[in-house]
Amino acid sequence: MDLAGKKIVLGLTGGVACYKAAELCRALVKQGASVQVVMTEAASHFIGAVTMQALSGHTVYTDQWDARVANNMAHIDLTRDADAILIAPCSTDFIRKLAHGACDDLLSTLCVARPRRLPLFIAPAMNVEMWENPATVRNVARLGADGITLFGPAAGAQACGETGYGRMLEADQLLVELVAAFQPKVLAGRRVLITAGPTFEAIDPVRGITNLSSGKMGYAVARAAREAGAEVVLVSGPTALAAPQGVRRIDVLSARQMHDAVMGQLAGQHLFIGVAAVADWRVSNASPHKMKKTASGAPQLTFAENPDILAAVAQAAASNPEGWPYCVGFAAESENLIDYGAAKRLRKGIPLLVGNIGPQTFGDDHNTVIVFDAAGHTVLPRAGKLTLARQLIGDIAARLGAPGTPHR
Ligand code: CTP
Repeated sequence: MDLAGKKIVLGLTGGVACYKAAELCRALVKQGASVQVVMTEAASHFIGAVTMQALSGHTVYTDQWDARVANNMAHIDLTRDADAILIAPCSTDFIRKLAHGACDDLLSTLCVARPRRLPLFIAPAMNVEMWENPATVRNVARLGADGITLFGPAAGAQACGETGYGRMLEADQLLVELVAAFQPKVLAGRRVLITAGPTFEAIDPVRGITNLSSGKMGYAVARAAREAGAEVVLVSGPTALAAPQGVRRIDVLSARQMHDAVMGQLAGQHLFIGVAAVADWRVSNASPHKMKKTASGAPQLTFAENPDILAAVAQAAASNPEGWPYCVGFAAESENLIDYGAAKRLRKGIPLLVGNIGPQTFGDDHNTVIVFDAAGHTVLPRAGKLTLARQLIGDIAARLGAPGTPHR
């Protein structure tokens, strides 16, 4: 549970997107958070306090003068042990209030009275014209300068029938943003390039050779890197997974396409993590048309070696005066992981290699990995892939040193 032990004050202001706040509240509770809902009077026109109380399991507050708070100071008491305030939906008018430090209802007063250590996140939700109005643009810029973080908004069809920016993010997207906000920003200012998934090597236009990689580990590493504050590009072979939020994904099929995409993105990268299960060979006599069954029997396939992407990136790093990007490889072995992993790290000429037992981990949500470096190897015990990815990102970030300094 990504929010275990966290106390979140969930503020609702007036907007149709209040219906999404119900789902969000549920998702936060499911992730282990304790949720204290505070609603404005306008929000209560869109959703009932009873619903939010049932979903959060706590009394919902709407009134500054609510005598149910022991000392009658709800605007102070409700935030003192909180870990974050999230206002979703956050209306145009509430953005104005935040920008000007207004204190004319419980939620706005509570925001102004929050302790300085307490992060305030808002999920704007409004009509596109309201979002793009110069007054709103001015107020939003003010919030940024005051250290208030925006989640979204997204563009798309709006409840009013118009289309454009101003849609509140979906509940699951807001959850991802909030969870990310709690992760240490160990890769802030870093650019990270990651490969993930299998490759697909065509035999003919409808058939090909691939492998059992699901892409889950690589996608988890991409999400963890983004959570850590990095700008992430993910070059992905064919998978059934959605691109991690906030990550730029480039879709490829074959190893050669993956190689070309990676080399095209390499300039300026601080870190390269090759998680993809790249096919070592491609079919060199692939047919331009669908192969037909013939009396002469099964087709004879011949193979040519694919470029080694990781080795090519490691070579580029070796000829870069500052040694960028720092290269991390993955190895999926079916046996002798310790010996093969250590040997593969040396053969690829990289400082760090992460080994796992391929057949057991492909498609699974959990994994056990071994990290190989010049000093030996360390086992990271079985855990969810996202948990392992966060541990790996923490470990890798520590090896990079401070931004602007050469890595170790
Ligand atoms: N890799 C790559 N390009 C290739 C093959 C592998 O970039 N053509 C990368 C993988 O993304 C991974 C690492 O190299 O980070 C190790 O991949 P793996 O398939 O385990 O190793 P191989 O070099 O292919 O060696 P072998 O198949 O003999 O185990």
